[in-house]
Amino acid sequence: MSSAVQTIAVELGARSYPITIGSGLLDDGAPLRDAIVGRHVLIVTNEVVAPLYLQRLRSALARGDNKLHISILILADGEAHKTLDSAARVFAALAEAKANRDATIVALGGGVIGDLAGFAAACWMRGIAFVQVPTTLLAMVDSSVGGKTAVDLPQGKNLVGAFHQPRAVIIDTGTLATLPARELRAGFAEVIKYGALGDAAFFAWLEQHASALLAREAQAVTTAIAHCCEQKAGIVARDETERGERALLNLGHTFGHALETASGYGSLLHGEAIAIGMVCAARLSANLGRAPAVDTQRLSALLERFGLPTTPPAGLDADDVIGLMQLDKKNLSGRLRLILWRGIGQAEMAADVDIDAIRAVLTGSGAEG
Ligand SMILES: NC(=O)c1ccc[n+]([C@@H]2O[C@H](COP(=O)([O-])OP(=O)(O)OC[C@H]3O[C@@H](n4cnc5c(N)ncnc54)[C@H](O)[C@@H]3O)[C@@H](O)[C@H]2O)c1
Repeated sequence: MSSAVQTIAVELGARSYPITIGSGLLDDGAPLRDAIVGRHVLIVTNEVVAPLYLQRLRSALARGDNKLHISILILADGEAHKTLDSAARVFAALAEAKANRDATIVALGGGVIGDLAGFAAACWMRGIAFVQVPTTLLAMVDSSVGGKTAVDLPQGKNLVGAFHQPRAVIIDTGTLATLPARELRAGFAEVIKYGALGDAAFFAWLEQHASALLAREAQAVTTAIAHCCEQKAGIVARDETERGERALLNLGHTFGHALETASGYGSLLHGEAIAIGMVCAARLSANLGRAPAVDTQRLSALLERFGLPTTPPAGLDADDVIGLMQLDKKNLSGRLRLILWRGIGQAEMAADVDIDAIRAVLTGSGAEG
């Protein structure tokens, strides 16, 4: 049984859902069973997470309802498998189980599994229920909440996707115990992002609690996750399909995605690329006179405390990176739109940012922030 469980609501009218956070929730079938629609459940996970957590989840689910037909799909690990081929394997597993619309997909894993399983749920018979059971810090604070689902194409990341909200998000903070340290640190980049984009008090709290968070102290980690989920739930409720405020969650992402691609997938983790991207955005804001340079230094210092990189990898061609930034989904009619800031806690959308100013930040030349 879990203790000190917190619940946060994502308010979306008829599609509202709870985020439940606590240690040991994998063994508590109740929140999961409450979210199941129909007789069929397909648990989608991967070969790293399955040996760690699948049995516990499956037993908890089966314990309360022996009529439930539970199937399992274990995919290979990694971003390279967030593909249409993997989605087709999910569809095949549903067909094999003779599932129709009376089925629920449960995503057990990090953001890769959550995005892929959510996408498959959005497509199967034009949309069935799904539940997110995130097991990485990044997935707990970001990708599992808000209904963005996608797969990658060889031409780029997340190019095929849908908005499809889960029926529930169940966060067992105990699963972080097995997360590799580098993955944990990358998740903290997204945590820091919430302070940077919209909550200066939370940013200061992170500065004070960095040691406890890095030591995975349960209370500090749970507080941070709950805070991020609350912030994201609020933003998603106000702007579900990213017509305005939700875009601010992409602070650092236009730089970050381009750096991730330019340096070759796999060399930078997503969170590491976002850490560098946020510092680039902050520096650019300072160089353009929009924000105090001292805030860039505070942001870099906090990211470095969490062991995260803050400067673009050596040897990248700035114009290649800019070319990739120009492919970003946020751009409108060929004009580069970026999330910049006025300082800690105050992100904003900037249209038509000067390319020379972006180049100066990528090459480390020009005024320093
Ligand atoms: N939908 C969204 O809103 C959104 C937001 C941000 C990122 N994303 C997507 O999320 C993905 C990145 O997610 P991620 O960082 O969780 O990567 P991931 O899913 O690849 O997980 C990272 C690694 O940790 C392993 N792992 C997962 N849980 C574990 C655990 N508890 N113990 C040990 N190992 C564990 C995984 O198998 C993997 O090897 C990207 O595809 C990105 O596009 C989506």
